[in-house]
Amino acid sequence: MSGHGTPIPMTSHPVTGLAGEAHVPGDKSISHRSLILGALSVGETRVTGLLEGDDVLDTAGAMRAFGAEVVREADGTWRINGVGVGGFAEPDQVIDCGNSGTGVRLIMGAMATSPITATFTGDASLNSRPMARVTDPLSLFGAQAHGRWGGRLPMTIVGARDPMPVRYTLPVASAQVKSAVLLAGLNAPGETVVIEGEATRDHTERMLAGFGATLNVEDTKEGRVITLQGQPDLQPQTIVVPRDPSSAAFPVCAAIITPGSDVLVPNIGLNPTRAGLYTTLKEMGADLTFENMREEGGEPVADLRARFSPDLKGIEVDPARAASMIDEYPVLSCVAACAEGRTIMRGVKELRVKESDRIDAMAQGLRANGVTVEEGEDWWIVEGRGAGGVPGGATVESRLDHRIAMSFMVLGMAAQNAITVDDGTPIATSFPIFEGLMAGLGADLRRGAGA
Ligand code: S3P
Repeated sequence: MSGHGTPIPMTSHPVTGLAGEAHVPGDKSISHRSLILGALSVGETRVTGLLEGDDVLDTAGAMRAFGAEVVREADGTWRINGVGVGGFAEPDQVIDCGNSGTGVRLIMGAMATSPITATFTGDASLNSRPMARVTDPLSLFGAQAHGRWGGRLPMTIVGARDPMPVRYTLPVASAQVKSAVLLAGLNAPGETVVIEGEATRDHTERMLAGFGATLNVEDTKEGRVITLQGQPDLQPQTIVVPRDPSSAAFPVCAAIITPGSDVLVPNIGLNPTRAGLYTTLKEMGADLTFENMREEGGEPVADLRARFSPDLKGIEVDPARAASMIDEYPVLSCVAACAEGRTIMRGVKELRVKESDRIDAMAQGLRANGVTVEEGEDWWIVEGRGAGGVPGGATVESRLDHRIAMSFMVLGMAAQNAITVDDGTPIATSFPIFEGLMAGLGADLRRGAGA
């Protein structure tokens, strides 16, 4: 299924006893970065476990357009022959990043300090998302951005001829913005400094260090101060992409709310900047265990075992944890709907500018399925109905948003009646094997209207 074609409705019917092992795909954030940093190194980078979702495939296509050789050798196994920092060629076509905010924002950063021009576009969702958060700092390096009203795609970036290094304090907690600035800083002379008040996912920093860049990260009163030395010779790497904790969230949450379930999700990356959902689920009383805790490729990894949890309690989610679980609020709200009491989520206004306005998309879908939701600009509250208490039975818009579609498929498994999304095709952006994997655990997902 791909989010670019005809919409295909998908229905999730109630089931019991999800069981088995769920081998979820590679981490989306790390997959994008593997391709981009591989393209910015001279020599051959090899990647295994790459997520072959549409978002990442679009980034692979973009790296080819900028002159790198990017070859798929086998399932999840890719080879990239990079052009080096400052070596990007000017693309002779528009770069289509599909649905991917991460793809477009990181690539804009990576090209903004080279003397080339590139035009970017995406699908209806991506073309409605704010880009000024990235083009503002890129203009400090000397790049120019010409986009539509409000800084929307399609947009042309004219890279800086003589880039200046910058010192930039992030106005929003965004790993995409942080990463765009760091990638731009690679081809600027001297030190580029990014300061973040709240720690966001740190894959770019870890991977830049792995590729041989000189980078210093310091926790100060101002926040995390990341200092990058410009114009390094990045060294090609061999990368094993860990499995995505954000994708693992779907089988884990499905097992927690579906009676009789016991699911093992092996080899999940539990980088603390990504693992907030799992802390939150434990606080709610989920039967979730971390087995075989270990370290792989410098990242903490564990096998997650999730069992049906009949006594979930609503909680107030610590807003300080928001950045570490920002992509997981949609599926968390489905778990909250199956808990006793209210779950309060604050400090989450970034949810309004994701692939969809995720507070609105979830609130409307939950209400249609019999769950009470209150919302404000940067908060929302889900009134839990207890285990087995969600009526279900409605059709929900997925709004070109993979995580909205998958969240309602998960809720349908544990609701009293089936839940339908009007379009399941966006799921292919991040989790192309979702249907087969969930069916293998015992889910009953059907395609087509009235299925
Ligand atoms: C990502 C950062 C987050 C996240 C997205 C992936 C990344 O976005 O929502 O799915 O790989 O850097 P923001 O930077 O907008 O918070």
